[in-house]
Amino acid sequence: MNTDVIYSPKVIVESNSADASSRVASMFANSIQANPQLTLGLATGGTPVDVYRDWVSRHRQSQLSFAGVTTFNLDEYIGLDRDHPQSFRSFMEGQLFRHVDIDDSRTHFPSVDRDYDSAIRLAGGIDLQLLGIGTNGHIAFNEPGSPIDSLTREVELTPDTIAANSRYFGAADLVPRTAISMGIGSILAARQIVLLATGESKAKAVSHSLGSPPCASCPASLLQYHPLVTFVLDAEAGSMLAGN
Ligand code: GLP
Repeated sequence: MNTDVIYSPKVIVESNSADASSRVASMFANSIQANPQLTLGLATGGTPVDVYRDWVSRHRQSQLSFAGVTTFNLDEYIGLDRDHPQSFRSFMEGQLFRHVDIDDSRTHFPSVDRDYDSAIRLAGGIDLQLLGIGTNGHIAFNEPGSPIDSLTREVELTPDTIAANSRYFGAADLVPRTAISMGIGSILAARQIVLLATGESKAKAVSHSLGSPPCASCPASLLQYHPLVTFVLDAEAGSMLAGN
């Protein structure tokens, strides 16, 4: 990764989260229509839910096919069965995969027993990567301090992230302490990256990511080393940016 050049990500601010999600959904849908064999990097969490709903609805109206699409998800908890309701595989099945014509064998999740970065490379690399952002600036499960050249690896979740994700599990002590996550280096290898952030809770992380020099203390700020990044925000997530 060349860290001599810093780029300014493109920033799109929509007035509300529904518009921000549909903007992102359209960007991806247009790319899939232009190249039906696209390889996507996909994210879990609350943020992309409306994006996936939009794709399902386009698919039902015969406007979007995933038949030739390959996907690589960013991360997965360690210690949950693939069918556990909170596994990221279950999330993707429920939100997207089960409702569209994607070929199951083309959907990929990191696991401790495979070289995920090589699998991504063998598939030709990720064309378009969807990201969310944690309140502490994490991307995937790359917590503050994650090195810029990190690849897919086992990571420990921070107390912040465990607390934030406990809403899906009902209690913090049910949240796994470790996960396997694509690294910052794995993410920066994608040809193009779109980060979606909605809600006031993300405003600080977003402003830190865009308004400060790239620094491992805010992993999303390291996206400034990639030439083709777009942040799509709702007004709340963009509220702490200069000029807002
Ligand atoms: C999670 C995921 C990230 C996600 C982030 C924000 O822990 N590992 O990929 O972007 O936290 O989640 P949410 O969209 O639910 O706020």
